[in-house]
Amino acid sequence: MRKTPWLIVGVANLLLGGVFAIAVVSPPAQIKTLLLPGKTSHGHYQIEMKCDACHGSEFTTMQDACLKCHQAELKLAKDTHPSSKFNDPTNAERLSLIDAQKCVTCHEEHRDGRTGPMGVTVPIDYCFYCHQETYKSRPSHAEFSFDSCATAGCHNYHDNTALYEAFLWKHADEPDQLPSPTLIRRARQFSALAVSGSTADAPEESLDDKIVHDWSVTTHAMAGVNCRKCHGASTLPADTGAEQILETWSDAVTHETCRTCHELETTTFLQGKHGFRLAEGLPPMMPADARLTMHKAALHRQLTCNSCHAGHRFDTQFAAADACLECHADDHSLAYRGSPHDQLWQRESDGGEPGSGVSCATCHMPRTVADNGSVHINHNQNDNLRPNEKMARDVCMRCHGLQFTLDALADEQLVRNNFNGRPGRQVPSVEMAKTWLNSRTKNRNKAGATPTTNTPE
Ligand code: HEC
Ligand code: HEC
Ligand code: HEC
Ligand code: HEC
Ligand code: HEC
Ligand code: HEC
Ligand code: HEC
Ligand code: HEC
Ligand code: HEC
Ligand code: HEC
Repeated sequence: MRKTPWLIVGVANLLLGGVFAIAVVSPPAQIKTLLLPGKTSHGHYQIEMKCDACHGSEFTTMQDACLKCHQAELKLAKDTHPSSKFNDPTNAERLSLIDAQKCVTCHEEHRDGRTGPMGVTVPIDYCFYCHQETYKSRPSHAEFSFDSCATAGCHNYHDNTALYEAFLWKHADEPDQLPSPTLIRRARQFSALAVSGSTADAPEESLDDKIVHDWSVTTHAMAGVNCRKCHGASTLPADTGAEQILETWSDAVTHETCRTCHELETTTFLQGKHGFRLAEGLPPMMPADARLTMHKAALHRQLTCNSCHAGHRFDTQFAAADACLECHADDHSLAYRGSPHDQLWQRESDGGEPGSGVSCATCHMPRTVADNGSVHINHNQNDNLRPNEKMARDVCMRCHGLQFTLDALADEQLVRNNFNGRPGRQVPSVEMAKTWLNSRTKNRNKAGATPTTNTPE
């Protein structure tokens, strides 16, 4: 809040307070958003009507709000510049130039004119404040300018898990296509085509033929997840009369019901753009509220589990691409149809080798293995979205070499046309890491020492 006159801040606070009081009796969203000092960033505008999500009184500082939602994710990304790094007195000195311990130093909010990709509000050459010595220590960097450090395929500020030297070194020289792809298999106990023996336990009124048929060929039917397990009263004894069932029956089924059996899918759904409004107690996300281009016919659909898992088939093959394309109509999404990846997916859908196809979900909702070995689908489609090197390790590198992967992800045009074609540029990082680490190993060997640091995992 460096130069903002305190009077303005005071008035804004008063107005905000006033609005919270009025909110009890009037439609809050419109009034609150009128008070926004500027457009909210791409990551947050869908929850902007809930000012409290960040400005709430439960947070002592804004930092607490940021950490509540983002701490776990940055930790998993092995954040290269966590606040704790600057507690070290030798590094603390640099903070007088740029206070890297506070998120808002680089991610202010409602700053329309100067908000870049990923909510970054500082000019991108700020690495200069802390890394001037790099020019001296790395001859290869002598010609680089500071606004190029964060170029795609070079460095990220937070997540360098696919870009650190030892990793680049280890995966240098891989071919464009790996000889044996290693996509994680879904762990299904039931074959979707087996015929179920159970009888639907719904009241007469709800026994629609199509619904019963669709349900009967699903893994739900096979696993004994009968109608009432989702529509309520699953605890009633089996011989309960139809009338009593009807009393507890509800046609509506929310994600909270699904959560009772699918905890991880639901938690991750609530963390991404599709579900985070529900997590904040707001009405569900609708394509009509999107900044991305959506199909007109879908504008008023609400995003729930059913948006992709249409009842009562819960067909995961449909969910993986066809469902997405009912809503998404940006260039990248539309270009998927007919792409090399889509062709592989069509072949898999027609009975080909499981895991050989690449659907929207292969990239945006990758499968993960929990500590206990169970396989889940990450339903937070923002988890690996930006910066896009996040997709390298868990997705692309299961089938492609590292150099090809980084080249493809760094080529904006290729991303826009959904990887129809070959990368048009080559990221130099891999070669640079090779040269640097090879020369260091050689020097050490000459000196008779064994290379210990930077040993690839
Ligand atoms: C996702 C988090 C988030 C949400 C949601 C949010 N804000 Fe903010 N807001 C911020 C951040 C970050 C700042 C900058 C704080 C700083 O610089 O210390 C800010 C600053 C402000 C300021 C001070 C502006 C200035 O010039 O210093 C006002 C006024 C404000 N917000 C109003 C609102 C209102 C009204 C809403 C709801 C309609 C809202 N905000 C929702 C994160 C949020
Ligand atoms: C209520 C939870 C919540 C709070 C509070 C919150 N965020 Fe976010 N933030 C999200 C979600 C959800 C997204 C969108 C999904 C994603 O990109 O991970 C997001 C997106 C972002 C992005 C952009 C990612 C992109 O790809 O565009 C940045 C940067 C970010 N948040 C930083 C912050 C900072 C800094 C604060 C504190 C001022 C903050 N967030 C407060 C939930 C929150
Ligand atoms: C010194 C500047 C700086 C500070 C301080 C900073 N960030 Fe970032 N942040 C960036 C840049 C630059 C990016 C763009 C991607 C990259 O280079 O890592 C980014 C990206 C992000 C993203 C997008 C996803 C990802 O994994 O990169 C999130 C979320 C985020 N920041 C949250 C935070 C939070 C929370 C804090 C405070 C704990 C914070 N940032 C502090 C510069 C900063
Ligand atoms: C506030 C100071 C500060 C800023 C600003 C900063 N860094 Fe750093 N960075 C550090 C410190 C401290 C380290 C720890 C190693 C060291 O002492 O050089 C580090 C380490 C790194 C590393 C090596 C990470 C590792 O562990 O392998 C990379 C890469 C990096 N920074 C890139 C960047 C980039 C790119 C930017 C700008 C987008 C940036 N840094 C901005 C302070 C900073
Ligand atoms: C895995 C959970 C689940 C099971 C099992 C299930 N349903 Fe549903 N059902 C849903 C969902 C989700 C909806 C949509 C609710 C909504 O949109 O609010 C729904 C909707 C309905 C509706 C409302 C009309 C419609 O088509 O939307 C009827 C009637 C219905 N189900 C009957 C049944 C019957 C009969 C069975 C057993 C054969 C059954 N359901 C089994 C989840 C389930
Ligand atoms: C009473 C527990 C229960 C409830 C409630 C439940 N499910 Fe399931 N679901 C299961 C079981 C068990 C399976 C089979 C798992 C397997 O194949 O290993 C399953 C499988 C699935 C599958 C995979 C289908 C396939 O073809 O492999 C999807 C998708 C799914 N459920 C979605 C939902 C949704 C959405 C809801 C809420 C509307 C829901 N489930 C409610 C227990 C439940
Ligand atoms: C954006 C679309 C989308 C939404 C929304 C969605 N899912 Fe899924 N879900 C998928 C896709 C795609 C798959 C299959 C991915 C694969 O095969 O790798 C899947 C798979 C599943 C599975 C099977 C998991 C397994 O390991 O076999 C379950 C269970 C499931 N979803 C539950 C849910 C629940 C519960 C919700 C709501 C909280 C939900 N889904 C919302 C797209 C979605
Ligand atoms: C019912 C409509 C609907 C369906 C179905 C749907 N989405 Fe979305 N999706 C949205 C909306 C709305 C947003 C938020 C866009 C915005 O805020 O501009 C979104 C956001 C996203 C984002 C984040 C974009 C960003 O820039 O942060 C990704 C990635 C995404 N969806 C992928 C998928 C995939 C993959 C599927 C299928 C497995 C899918 N979606 C199914 C409506 C849908
Ligand atoms: C081979 C992997 C891959 C496939 C397949 C794929 N995407 Fe993407 N998608 C990406 C990457 C990489 C990005 C770019 C992230 C970035 O750089 O901002 C992206 C971005 C997006 C975005 C955000 C666009 C924006 O402008 O913010 C949406 C929405 C999206 N994809 C939806 C889809 C849908 C829907 C499908 C299927 C029809 C699909 N994607 C297929 C990898 C893929
Ligand atoms: C399941 C394996 C698999 C995954 C995951 C995958 N791909 Fe592919 N990809 C392939 C195969 C196989 C081809 C070759 C198709 C062909 O030759 O017809 C291909 C083709 C391509 C092409 C076009 C090459 C050409 O010569 O036309 C690009 C670019 C590409 N992939 C990039 C990516 C990126 C980037 C990712 C991650 C975001 C990714 N792929 C994820 C298997 C995969």
